[in-house]
Amino acid sequence: MSGDQLLLVGIAVLALAAAIGAFAIAARRSGVDWRSSMSGETRAADRSSAVELPPVPVAADEPVSEESAVLPIGAAPEADEEPAAVAVQVETEQRLVEVSPEEAGVTRRQFFNRALGVTFGTFSGLLGTSFLAFLWPRISGGFGSDVNAGAVSDLLDQAINDDGSVTPVFVPEARAYVVPGPDALSEQFDARSVEAAGVMAIWQKCVHLGCRVPWCSTSQGFECPCHGSKYNSIGEYNAGPAPRNLDRFAVEVTDGGDLIIKTGTVVETPRAFQPSVSYPQGPSCIGGG
Ligand code: FES
Repeated sequence: MSGDQLLLVGIAVLALAAAIGAFAIAARRSGVDWRSSMSGETRAADRSSAVELPPVPVAADEPVSEESAVLPIGAAPEADEEPAAVAVQVETEQRLVEVSPEEAGVTRRQFFNRALGVTFGTFSGLLGTSFLAFLWPRISGGFGSDVNAGAVSDLLDQAINDDGSVTPVFVPEARAYVVPGPDALSEQFDARSVEAAGVMAIWQKCVHLGCRVPWCSTSQGFECPCHGSKYNSIGEYNAGPAPRNLDRFAVEVTDGGDLIIKTGTVVETPRAFQPSVSYPQGPSCIGGG
């Protein structure tokens, strides 16, 4: 599985986790039946909180006869009679009153659940934003956008040695080698905007498994040390397991003569049957035929 595929799988897993988290938070906040969301343990704790008071002890020292305790309706006790002491027992009725979540306030369980949801949501958001920032082509500057490699005349001066041999100019921001183009370019590059003002921009990444391909000055080509793929000075395939030519970027020249490497436009081409540049022109740096 390639790196891009792994990234896509990672993004899919992240999106799924974020969706599950969002669904859990939404379900928790909906609160259609708040009692059903309480656990049995919580409800049992609520029931046990109703305290039954002990009965009030009898206040009188003497037993009271039934006649002295009960008077006919409307009759008043005689003036010289002492009011009889009455034994009273008060029974307190305990009732459970259901209250809404708003009245009850936020419980500790709800607080921790919400804190967990907010933390998970924040983490997912930051991670997703980081992935997007990593994958999204930058609007200005850097790999994925248009890179100004400098004046074409300066690039050619650096790339072409006094003896006519080539030393590609590496442009780190574009991850590309700038090389002189051939006098006659193979037909497979027709109308592909891969050459401008006599220069081309070759992506440093090997099209086999992605190793960075170094330049070999003796053979005048790019030779991959990982599995031995070889390409000529403009990245056309010569040997090894690589399935195609080295990829390259579209290029253009500004009115001021600067080379613009459009690293957001990658041009892939099949193995060249008739290479535009001869290779090798000397001993190989990695051996092999
Ligand atoms: S990565 Fe270059 S030949 Fe395999």
